[in-house]
Amino acid sequence: MRILGIETTCDETSCAVVEDGRRILSNVVSSQIDLHAAFGGVVPELSCRRHVEVILPVVKEALAQADIPLEGVDAIAVAYGPGLVGALLLGLTAAKALSLAAHIPFVGVNHIEAHLYAAMMSHPMPIAFPCVGVVLSGGHTALVRVDAIGSYKLLGETHDDAIGEAFDKVGKMLGLPYPGGPHVEMLARGGNPYRFPLRGGCIKGRPYDFSFSGLKTAVLYTIQGQNACAGASNDLSLQDKADIAASFQQAAFDDVIDKAGGAARAYGSTTVLFGGGVTNSKTLRERFAAKEPALTALWPAPGLSLDNAAMIAGLGYHVMQRQGASALDLEAATRIPFAGRCEHEAL
Ligand code: KG4
Ligand code: ZN
Repeated sequence: MRILGIETTCDETSCAVVEDGRRILSNVVSSQIDLHAAFGGVVPELSCRRHVEVILPVVKEALAQADIPLEGVDAIAVAYGPGLVGALLLGLTAAKALSLAAHIPFVGVNHIEAHLYAAMMSHPMPIAFPCVGVVLSGGHTALVRVDAIGSYKLLGETHDDAIGEAFDKVGKMLGLPYPGGPHVEMLARGGNPYRFPLRGGCIKGRPYDFSFSGLKTAVLYTIQGQNACAGASNDLSLQDKADIAASFQQAAFDDVIDKAGGAARAYGSTTVLFGGGVTNSKTLRERFAAKEPALTALWPAPGLSLDNAAMIAGLGYHVMQRQGASALDLEAATRIPFAGRCEHEAL
C-alpha cells in the first residue's frame, strides 16, 4: 500500500510517499526557517502564505521522486493536528481536494503520534512492547507507555514550555539564530556542562511530568547576573556563553533521561522510543547511551526527527488498517491528545 503523506502543522511543508508504512520512496521537506528567522519565531500568517505557495509543487516533487502518478497512490495521509490552525487547514484542505479529485481515500493522522512512529519505522519490527516513548519537539514534551502502534498511555507531559521551545528561548537569550536548538548544541560543544548548577523542574506527585520554565528563568538570571541590569549579557565572554549553553543543555537532557529511565524500570521495559525535532541532537543520543547503558534507545533515522511527511505517511498506513479512511468533514484540531492519562501515573 502506497501512501502520500502531507505535513503542514507548523513551519515545514512536507510531502512523502511511503510503501507499507516503512519503505520511504520520497520525503520532500520545504523549510520556512529563512522566512521566520528575522522574527525569532514562527509568524503564523507568514507560515500559511508559504504553505499555500509551495504545497502543490512539494506534492508534485514527492510523486516525481517516488516515480508514481497521483493515481498510483492508495491513500492520502495528512497531519490534522496538533499545530497552528491556519497551517493545519492548508494541509488538510490540500489532502481533501486531492482525495476528491483523484478518488483516493484520505486519513487524518496525529502529528505527535507520528513523531513516535518515526522511531518505529526506522527500526526493524518487532519492537518489544510495552516500551516507553518520549516526544521532544518544539511544541510538545511527553512521556508515554507504548503498548502497540496506536495504543498509548500518557505518563507525563510538560506543565509549561516544551523542551524545544526552551532551547529556542535560551538560544535567543544567548544571541543565537532561530531556531536555537541546533545552535545551542553547537555552542555547548566548547562549554563546561558542570559550571552552572542548573536543573529541570519536578512536579510534586507526578514523577514523569516536566517543567522547563524555571530552568529557562535560571538561565536568564545566570546570563544577567542575579541582580544585574538588562544588557549585562554583553559582558559575557564566548566561554561564559558556551558554559551556560552546555549547563542548560545537560540539565534539560538529564531531566528527560532520568524520567524516561525511571519510567522504563517502573514498567519493566528495556526499550525507549524517541521522537521529535530535539532528538536530532547528537549530544542527547550520546548522553542517553552513557547514562542508561542497560536500555536500548530507538531514534528516528536521519531526516525523520524534524517535521516531515514520511512519518505521517508511515503512520497513516497503520491508521488506515485499523480504522479505515477518515470522513471528509474531518476538522483541523490545534490541540488533540494522542494518549489517555495512565491510571498508574503515581508509580
Ligand atoms: O519536531 P519539530 O521539528 O517541530 C515541532 O513539532 O515542534 O521540532 C523543532 C524543535 C525546535 O525547537 C528546535 O530548536 C529543536 O527541535 N531542535 C533541537 C535540535 N535540533 C532541533 N533542540 C536541541 N538540539 C538540537 N540539536
Ligand atoms: Zn513536530
